[in-house]
Amino acid sequence: MSSNVILTSSDSDKTATLPVLSGSVGPSAIDIGKLHKETGMFTYDPGFMSTASCRSAITYIDGDAGVLLYRGYPIEQLAKHSSFLETSYLLINGELPTTDEFRSFEHDVTHHSMMHESLKTFLHGFHYDAHPMAMLCGTIGSLAAFYHDTLDIEDPAQRKLAAIRLIAKIPTIAAACYRYTIGWPIRYPRNNLEYCTRFLHMMFEVPSEPLDLPEVAAKALDLLFILHADHEQNASTSTVRMVGSTGANPYACVAAGIAALWGPAHGGANEAVLKMLAEIGTPDQVGKAIERAKDKNSGFRLMGFGHRVYKNFDPRATIIREMCHKVLNALGVQDPLLDVAMKLEEAALKDPYFIERKLYPNVDFYSGLIYKALKIPTEMFTVMFAIARTSGWVAHWLEQNTTPDAKIGRPRQIYTGAPSRDYRPISGR
Ligand code: SDX
Repeated sequence: MSSNVILTSSDSDKTATLPVLSGSVGPSAIDIGKLHKETGMFTYDPGFMSTASCRSAITYIDGDAGVLLYRGYPIEQLAKHSSFLETSYLLINGELPTTDEFRSFEHDVTHHSMMHESLKTFLHGFHYDAHPMAMLCGTIGSLAAFYHDTLDIEDPAQRKLAAIRLIAKIPTIAAACYRYTIGWPIRYPRNNLEYCTRFLHMMFEVPSEPLDLPEVAAKALDLLFILHADHEQNASTSTVRMVGSTGANPYACVAAGIAALWGPAHGGANEAVLKMLAEIGTPDQVGKAIERAKDKNSGFRLMGFGHRVYKNFDPRATIIREMCHKVLNALGVQDPLLDVAMKLEEAALKDPYFIERKLYPNVDFYSGLIYKALKIPTEMFTVMFAIARTSGWVAHWLEQNTTPDAKIGRPRQIYTGAPSRDYRPISGR
């Protein structure tokens, strides 16, 4: 049975009867599509705190219960039983693959993992000290220049090929960006290696000797990629959808997502967490950091803490915290910053300021410590996030392009500028 909400303006006789929409799980939504037509008014929700921008069947989050489902599967189960590539298949196709389906998907990703040789000259246009996120954003956007033959987004086969290309090439390009900044020769993807191992080889293998890669490294990376693969309508995914709503090509959409992810309030937080922990230095300095974070005038926030949706705990942070201890022990890494992080978490979770505001560690709080233990440089942390989130971004782009009532995103505003006035010649001003 459908239900409605009746909105009546208190200062005019305007009333709107608006339908209530429901999904399969989670909150219902008031369809305000006709509100302006019926009342002449807009809604106002600048951070989209209470706004659903679309219908999606990909990921579901219950922030109060700390639930995260990818196509209905709890993140804890995927983290325990799946792989990043299988999870990518699930996000894109909606179902877990059969053995043959996975084999075919893995073959396609593996055989699209090389990047065009001309992209190497692109990289040489950057200074050696360019931030890898700047390089990645520019290079991924430029991929559209190489695939004129498959940019028809009305063609399902071309959409799927673009999705495969992006998932396949972003690790290769990310590793190439890193190696360019340290002056190492680019390593080509090796088809006999699985996705994460292949990436780590492209990152760290040198021509002069074989890479001695600890087994735990690829497993830890694969788990981190699963946990970062998608997260509903977060800022970068919403950006991909906004750009996609104009009919832009998928490479431009993902480049825009990379740009949005870079911000320290979003994916840039993992890099900011490491810098914050290093700045705090030792566990005995944690109290001062907590006080600074509570002081509105300090401009300082505990990076890796808080979340727009999770008001209990981020289930990904729980898994990463546990993995952090295991990986550092397995690699024999003693990182003093882990002691700082644990002390900071313990102090914040007991402090009324953080408790009242429901601020808990998020996905970015511990991930950087694992990346550091894997010898991935701090500047590459958000690049790692982008590699993983590319699967979610392309899944949403594909879903958006098969949504029948998809419209170009075009929000309105509350105008606060000057009312209409006449131009005055400069002599009269
Ligand atoms: C990601 O959306 C997603 O799903 C994102 C993500 C994904 O997978 O895509 O989960 C990935 O981006 C995780 C978040 C990473 N960012 C950080 O760790 C940066 C630090 N955290 C924040 O800046 C903040 O918590 C946000 C951006 C994550 C959430 O911001 P909100 O929901 O807009 O909350 P807010 O800024 O309105 O803060 C509410 C209150 C404020 O205090 P009051 O004005 O009520 O007194 O909490 C305070 C804030 O000052 N606050 C913090 C804080 N985060 C919020 N105070 C100190 N330290 C913090 N980290």
